[in-house]
Amino acid sequence: MDYKKLIAEKVKEIVSMDLEILERLIEIPPKPEMGDFALPCFQFAKIMRKAPNMIAEELSKNIKIEGVEKVENLGPYLNFFVDKGTYSKSAIENILSENEKYGSSALGEGKNVTVEFSSPNIAKPFHVGHLFSTAIGNSLYRIFDFEGYNCIRINHLGDWGTQFGKLICAYKKWVNEEDLEKEPIKELLRIYVKFHEEAEKDPSLEDEGREYFKKLEDGEKEEVELWTKFRNLSLKEFKKVYDELGVEFDSYKGESFYSDKMDAIIEEMNKKGLLVESNGAKVVMLDEYNMPPCIIQKADGASIYATRDIAAAEYRKKTYDFYKSIYVVGAEQKLHFKQFFKTLELAGHEWAKSCVHVAFGTVKFADRKLSTRKGEVIFLEDLLNKAVLKAKEVIDEKNPNLENKDEVAKKVGIGSIIFTYLKNSREKDIVFNWSEMLSFDGETGPYVQYTYARAKSILRKFEEASSEIDYSKLNSEEEFELVKKLQGFNEAILNAIDKLEPFIVTRYVIDVAKAFNKFYNSCNIINTEDIGLKNARMMLVKASSIVIKNALNLLGINTVEKM
Ligand code: ARG
Repeated sequence: MDYKKLIAEKVKEIVSMDLEILERLIEIPPKPEMGDFALPCFQFAKIMRKAPNMIAEELSKNIKIEGVEKVENLGPYLNFFVDKGTYSKSAIENILSENEKYGSSALGEGKNVTVEFSSPNIAKPFHVGHLFSTAIGNSLYRIFDFEGYNCIRINHLGDWGTQFGKLICAYKKWVNEEDLEKEPIKELLRIYVKFHEEAEKDPSLEDEGREYFKKLEDGEKEEVELWTKFRNLSLKEFKKVYDELGVEFDSYKGESFYSDKMDAIIEEMNKKGLLVESNGAKVVMLDEYNMPPCIIQKADGASIYATRDIAAAEYRKKTYDFYKSIYVVGAEQKLHFKQFFKTLELAGHEWAKSCVHVAFGTVKFADRKLSTRKGEVIFLEDLLNKAVLKAKEVIDEKNPNLENKDEVAKKVGIGSIIFTYLKNSREKDIVFNWSEMLSFDGETGPYVQYTYARAKSILRKFEEASSEIDYSKLNSEEEFELVKKLQGFNEAILNAIDKLEPFIVTRYVIDVAKAFNKFYNSCNIINTEDIGLKNARMMLVKASSIVIKNALNLLGINTVEKM
């Protein structure tokens, strides 16, 4: 039974408003004494020419809905109290029958959404910021996909630019082929760092680097071969990380793919009268919008990051005809995105307003600063390995006889990292803290995974309900609160889509886990004597496990059956 719809339909008989708008106005109040559903009446004031309080009072007297025990008004709010048995029955049965599809919809049918995320730079380490992007992007992809959107996952690799000239130069002078085979990114990073050190003493190296980049741009065989080698080696390393995380992409078209599309962009900008000369460079002036100019071509003729982004945006529009184009990139690039979106708009592209920068904060480890230039980086593989190792220690201590401990440790360890990334609003900075992340009883990944495993363990002790299930007996506060929480899944997902914030789903699943544990602690499930009630409780456990699994899945986190 869809209460929101039922309520909206009844209200619509009195207030002339769109059914969908009404439905979305209906909230699930934070406290049980405020009812099970609430409808704020502020928006009706204009239409009905009355104060919201009066409207709420009037509506409370005139609305009768089957399955709703009473309708009260509290100031400008209408509060609906449902018949608990009917409500629980319909909510739980719905979850059980939809199972892994519970929470999904066809909301996005026929709409294409491109999600660009991760986008590491080749020949450089995949760092914790890229992992942040990967976690958010993968989750947004899963969420949009679940709601019926057609999503295209794009990895906009940083595989072009003058730095590759420097790298070719460094390679020719200092590479150790053996190390390159063993640990490609570490070796490429080593020679890249060396290049910068040496260039400080001998600036002519910079010119040499520039020449190599020119050769690469001109498609000279040797340079192209080296660049291809760097790219393949890097991609192989990146894919190891994606495999660990269970992340996939539909396209790996990075910056290099657009290198031959620059002239067309420069011509387009020129034709539209947007280009201005500035110290030999070609720029689009944005001072009217309080921004520095967007540089399209450098004085030496080289194209740059922004131009490649403009080309990529046009390519994506042409190829995928997106309804929305998402870029999951750190907040430090906010200005870049504003500038290039504005430039697209000035070039007359209506669709520029469908492009969104989904920004996120920085990542810290207690007091270590992260920088690539000096080579002080946390290698991602080390980070993931450490999480798995630490998870194993915790499991060894808590459940030494567990079967397939390694597999569980992997899911718990990696899950704890993803969970940490997605726990708060994405623009907040995060600090990794191992003992906190891996704790079984904070607001953590392991806590939620453990709750799931607990539900599954209860279900394993249970023989399928053959006799009657009496949902009307699920009337303790803990039981009913849990049922209501489970019912709020779709609302959480829609909010996450609106705000492009996976953390809304994370918070939701934490709340479900908490409500489940309260229920578990207050109701003796296995030893309930009343069979009708016991079966109803079992169904509630089953429904909870489905919702937790589906929600974790949207975050890109695996569940384990035993823990
Ligand atoms: N490769 C870039 C970096 O590591 C991120 C790319 C962001 N995406 C974009 N379309 N500009 O900083």
